[in-house]
Amino acid sequence: MLTNRPRRLRLNPAMRDLVRETRLHVKELIYPLFIVEGSGIREEIPSMPGQYHYSVDMLAGEIEEITRLGIGGVLLFGLPQEKDSVGSQAYCATGVVQNAVREIKRLAPQLLVITDLCMCEYTDHGHCGILDPDGYVNNDKTLEYLAKIAVSQAQAGADIVAPSDMMDGRVGAIRQALDENGFEKVAIMAYSAKYASNYYGPFRQAAASAPSFGDRKTYQMDYGNIREALRECEADIQEGADMIMVKPALCYLDVVSQVRQHFSQPLAVYSVSGEYSMLTNAVRQGILGEDVIWESVLAMKRAGADIIITYFAKYLAEKLR
Ligand code: PBG
Ligand code: ZN
Repeated sequence: MLTNRPRRLRLNPAMRDLVRETRLHVKELIYPLFIVEGSGIREEIPSMPGQYHYSVDMLAGEIEEITRLGIGGVLLFGLPQEKDSVGSQAYCATGVVQNAVREIKRLAPQLLVITDLCMCEYTDHGHCGILDPDGYVNNDKTLEYLAKIAVSQAQAGADIVAPSDMMDGRVGAIRQALDENGFEKVAIMAYSAKYASNYYGPFRQAAASAPSFGDRKTYQMDYGNIREALRECEADIQEGADMIMVKPALCYLDVVSQVRQHFSQPLAVYSVSGEYSMLTNAVRQGILGEDVIWESVLAMKRAGADIIITYFAKYLAEKLR
């Protein structure tokens, strides 16, 4: 006679539901949005099937759907018409993201608006900062610009700014600039452990933000490293990060798990464009069953993520209803 029969707990859906250890709540989901200049634009992004470029005037329907679904927030990326060496459209009061923030706050004042804070979509060279003559991204000069961008995003009404540049000391510089300008209520969600990943490919096509030369390995993290991720998180927290992030998600769940064990701050994971495109293509081609999306996102939560940034946010929210 067997005393222990673990299969009793798997007998039917009701029993499995009762004992499930990890669940997803719709408020934990953040949905990224790509905003373009111009008007009347709602165009599918070729590298990310099911995701769209929106001009600001076309956001109303999308924001209505996101709020109806109860999604926790949106993360905004801007595609400016004009780029230059210092990314000046990133801190322009009427820049594409600033306009989008104001419009979303008008449409849905309750919805959390997070602005990605980086320069690569705005610089003509596609790097995440200001270049030295030899092409090296100058850390401290970049900090001055990141601070200006943060203040301009806060002025437009962002609730949270999310620096994704990986410069040293950026969280401190941004926190100081926000406070000096009266934005002590604006929170910082730091992309703390952001790896130099191949999984950003579809995003760089979507955001026209690929570097025109070289790569991002002098600022984003080496994917062989995990202790370094803990140092990055620690530095960001000391400088005033309210939330920390690991990015990408699926290949980095060991990092998520360790960061969760070491720090108590709210922890976000970013399930990036390459993860989205891989899963979407496999499901659309019938290679993988659709439930693989659910399996993937629960794995992120099981590893310890509190907040999940995913292009599947609307899909998951629909299923949670
Ligand atoms: C900008 C930024 C990138 C992503 C988010 N913010 C691209 C990059 O670092 O090249 C990637 C997001 C995704 O792949 O979904 N620094
Ligand atoms: Zn960047």
